[in-house]
Amino acid sequence: MTSQLATVSYIGATILFILSLGGLSNQETSLRGNLYGMVGMTLAVLATVLGPQVTAAGLPWILAAMLLGASVGLYAARTVQMTQMPELVALMHSMVGLAAMLVGFSTYIDPEAVKDFTGAAKSIHEMEIYIGILIGAVTFSGSVIAFGKLSGRITGNPVLLPARHWLNLAGLLVVLYFGREFLNAESLSAGMTPLVVMTVIALLFGIHMVMAIGGADMPVVVSMLNSYSGWAAAATGFMLSNDLLIVVGALVGSSGAILSYIMCRAMARSFISVIAGGFGTASAAPKPAGGAAQPAGEVVPVNALETAELLRDAKSVIIVPGYGMAVAQAQHTVNEITQYLRGKGVNVRFGIHPVAGRMPGHMNVLLAEAKVPYDIVFEMDELNDDFPSTDVAMVIGANDIVNPGAQDDPTSPIAGMPVLEVWKAKTSIVMKRSMASGYAGVDNPLFYKENNRMLFGDAKKMLDEVLTVLKA
Ligand code: TAP
Repeated sequence: MTSQLATVSYIGATILFILSLGGLSNQETSLRGNLYGMVGMTLAVLATVLGPQVTAAGLPWILAAMLLGASVGLYAARTVQMTQMPELVALMHSMVGLAAMLVGFSTYIDPEAVKDFTGAAKSIHEMEIYIGILIGAVTFSGSVIAFGKLSGRITGNPVLLPARHWLNLAGLLVVLYFGREFLNAESLSAGMTPLVVMTVIALLFGIHMVMAIGGADMPVVVSMLNSYSGWAAAATGFMLSNDLLIVVGALVGSSGAILSYIMCRAMARSFISVIAGGFGTASAAPKPAGGAAQPAGEVVPVNALETAELLRDAKSVIIVPGYGMAVAQAQHTVNEITQYLRGKGVNVRFGIHPVAGRMPGHMNVLLAEAKVPYDIVFEMDELNDDFPSTDVAMVIGANDIVNPGAQDDPTSPIAGMPVLEVWKAKTSIVMKRSMASGYAGVDNPLFYKENNRMLFGDAKKMLDEVLTVLKA
């Protein structure tokens, strides 16, 4: 493939990636968005592999690596559970970081890669290498720790070192100092020491930054690392002089940053403190996820029959799904109940919290899979004012996102987080297996409200029973 054709293919791929991001912003167009992304990526890979930079001798290596990578990816995509998606995403981000680091070192060592650079161009190229490895190393170690936290292999509690901000500042100064040493280095071996020292500091910083973050704040970390991985890819693009990688990296980096901002707003966190790292203080330390909450009053349990009666008598129902619906895989039964109630003239709508479940868009994906119509699925802000005029608010395996303590209790770890105000409905029904707390590990006063009912049991099992009663 000539370099002109490769460039044209890169431009085509870039346009497809932009269309893909645009498509993914809406449920109705997300399928098309995915398709654009897949075609764009195929085009990009083909243009790179068949492009002028790849020699015949290098081709078998690339094909072997692609085969290996594709097999691992295919295996992971087929076996991973929907609930394990965030940890898989974190692991993938770590790969981008690792790739940026390795490309940085190999570009520096490879005499072929640097032979065209002299004078100011050489300094700029070395700066790209230094910054690329820096971002890559932070992304790599930060993502590995995020993977450990999300998969429960590392404690979800914030691990805070004394004087951690000073430690970070000292790390930054050392990195700047060695950056100067690196740029002034006369030889390859002289430049290697500052590069290695900086890499070690960056790796430690990544670990330190994510270890300091409390479990309840992990959604922001995932999207923040998504953004970092984009910048790491862009840095790789600079090192390899690959325009497509620069553009795509910048797209991922900026869309990840926007997503982080949206997540921050949804969790009432400050964007700046997230970007600076080290958020989630000891006072906000979550109790172990799933731990039992302290009883704070009487709860009113109901069974499937009473739930079905409440639903049957209702004119308007808002369903609030959460992580438990994903665990129970109850979305198909939820859809069947929705169809049934709508068939009887009940106004059924879904209220989706931005951080419901364990990854952005988690609930939307599940509801789309079960073929719940898009036009009855609403964002939290769109229907939060409608609860007072709603007969039944049905909470399916959600907990933190419907916790009134976020509004009423300033000492709560989730204080200030906007929540779905289900308790304002005539009756709210919470469907979960026990009185255990949710991800943030805090007690939920909703359970003890007078107009609240608890339907204890696995969401799928209980909803199957409710559906049977409804249809009987
Ligand atoms: P949670 O607050 O985690 O509550 C989920 C509830 O589901 C649990 O209390 C659990 O209670 C119940 N449950 C679990 N398995 C169930 C089953 N098989 N059947 C019925 N219920 C079941 O979830 P949420 O309300 O969706 O809130 C999300 C939380 O996760 C937030 O704190 C958020 O910050 C955090 N988070 C979100 C993300 C993203 S990006 N969405 C990523 C990481 C963390 P029982 O054990 O009693 O059944």
